[in-house]
Amino acid sequence: MSDKAILEYQGKKYEFPVTEGTEGELGINIKTLRSEAGMITLDRGYKNTGSCESAITFLDGEKGILRYRGYAIEDLAEKADFLEVAYLLIFGELPNKEQLDKFSADIRDESEVDEEMKKILDGFPKSAHPMGVLSSLTSALIAFNPSSVNVDSEEEMYKAIVKILGKFPVLVAWTLRKKNSLPLNYGDDSLGYVENLHKMMFEKPGKKYNVDQSVIDALDKLLILHADHEQNCSASTVRMVGSSHAGLFASISAGISALWGPLHGGANQAVIEMLEGIKQDGGDTHKFMQKAKDKEDPFRLMGFGHRVYKNFDPRAKIIKKSADEVLGGLGIEDPVLDIAKGLEKEALEDDYFVQRKLYPNVDFYSGIIYRALGIPVEMFTVMFALGRLPGWIAQWREMRLKKEPIGRPRQIYVGANLRDFKVVGER
Ligand code: SDX
Repeated sequence: MSDKAILEYQGKKYEFPVTEGTEGELGINIKTLRSEAGMITLDRGYKNTGSCESAITFLDGEKGILRYRGYAIEDLAEKADFLEVAYLLIFGELPNKEQLDKFSADIRDESEVDEEMKKILDGFPKSAHPMGVLSSLTSALIAFNPSSVNVDSEEEMYKAIVKILGKFPVLVAWTLRKKNSLPLNYGDDSLGYVENLHKMMFEKPGKKYNVDQSVIDALDKLLILHADHEQNCSASTVRMVGSSHAGLFASISAGISALWGPLHGGANQAVIEMLEGIKQDGGDTHKFMQKAKDKEDPFRLMGFGHRVYKNFDPRAKIIKKSADEVLGGLGIEDPVLDIAKGLEKEALEDDYFVQRKLYPNVDFYSGIIYRALGIPVEMFTVMFALGRLPGWIAQWREMRLKKEPIGRPRQIYVGANLRDFKVVGER
C-alpha cells in the first residue's frame, strides 16, 4: 500500500503522507495542504477529521470494540476497579499493588475541599442544574489551588491530577446534598474510592450509613464504562481548552459543560425523561418510534445512535445486563426497563434504524441503574462526568506531554465582500 495520498485539483497533483495506526487506521496528514495547494478541508462536526494521534483508547465502531490502553472494556468492567482503570488511562499501564496503594493514598491526601468553597455553593438556588453547579465549583477550585494552574513538569501534573481526583467526588456529593438540603460533609479515609463517594452522597445526619456491596460494585462498573471514549465532544473540549495551556481544572470545567448537552452526556437524563414520558402516555412505543422517524417531528430516540458505533455500543450491552442484575438483586421492578427493552427490540427490526445503523448507546440503559441506586435523574450526567474524569485527565496529560500546538481550526468565509461604510443618515 502506498504511504502517500494524492490530491488532484485543476490539473495539479499534491502528495500527502499517510499515517497508519497500530490498529490499521489510516490518516492523511494534510499539514502542508494550505501552504502547497492554498486550500483547507471542510468537515462539519469533524466526522472524518482526526485531531491527534492518541494511545489512550481504541474504538472500532463497525465491530463495536472499545479498549482502554489495549485492554478490552469487557475485561476491565468485570475484573478491575475504577481507580485501577483511572491509573491505567492516565499513566498507560495497570498499576501493581504498590503503585495503586500510593495513587490511592495521594488522592486521599488531596480530598479536602476548602471551607470557603461552601460559600460559592450557597450562592446557587436549589433549582440550579447540578451540571452547572459542578462546572462552576470545578473552576472555582483553581482559586484555592493556584499551584495547579500552570503545570508543565510531570511532577506538577501528577499533583494537579491527584488533587482533582481527590476533590471531585466531594464536589459531586456537595452538589447532590445542596439539592437535598443536607449538610455538606467530607469523606471517610477508611473507605474505597467509590464507597466513599456513595457515603458522602447519601449519608444522613444522625442516621447509620450502610449500603449493599452490590450497589457499590454496580456504581464502580458504571464509572469504568464511562471512563474514556477517545475524541468525543467533551474530551475534545478538554484538549482544546488545555491546548492554550489553561490549567487542568479549567479544562475539566469546560469538559463538564460540553458533556451537559443532551446530544452528549446529557442524553442519560433525557432517556429517562423520554421513557417516563412514554410510560405516562400509555406505553405505546410504536407511536414514539414513528415520531423518532418523522423528520417534521423534533423528537429523537434518546440513547440511540452514535457518531462512531455503527454496531452495538459494547458499553450498552454490559449496562443492559447489569440493569437486570442490579434491579433483580435489589428486588426493584422498574416498568421503564421493559419500555426500554421494547423500544430496543422495535428499533432493531425497523428499517429506519437498521439502515442508519442506530443502536442503543451507553446512555440508553445507564439511567435505569442510576435510578435503582437512588441517584436522582438530574444527577445522572454528573455521574457520567465523574466516570469520565480519568479519561479527560488522560487526554489532557497526553496532549500536554506531546506538546501539541494550540487548537485553532480554519474556516471558509461566506460573508459580505468589502463594502464602504455609510454613516447612519445614509443607511
Ligand atoms: C454520547 O462521541 C462519543 O463517544 C460520545 C459518547 C461518549 O462516551 O463520550 O459515546 C457519549 O454522547 C453518546 C450519544 C448520546 N446522545 C444521544 O443518545 C442523543 C440521540 N442521538 C443522536 O442525537 C445522534 O445519534 C448522535 C448525536 C449521538 C450522533 O449524531 P451524528 O453522528 O451527528 O448523526 P446524525 O445526527 O447525522 O444522524 C444520522 C441520521 C440522521 O438521519 P438522516 O438525516 O440520515 O435521515 O440518523 C438519524 C438522523 O436524523 N438519527 C436519529 C437518531 N440519531 C441519529 N434519528 C432518530 N433518533 C436518533 N436518536
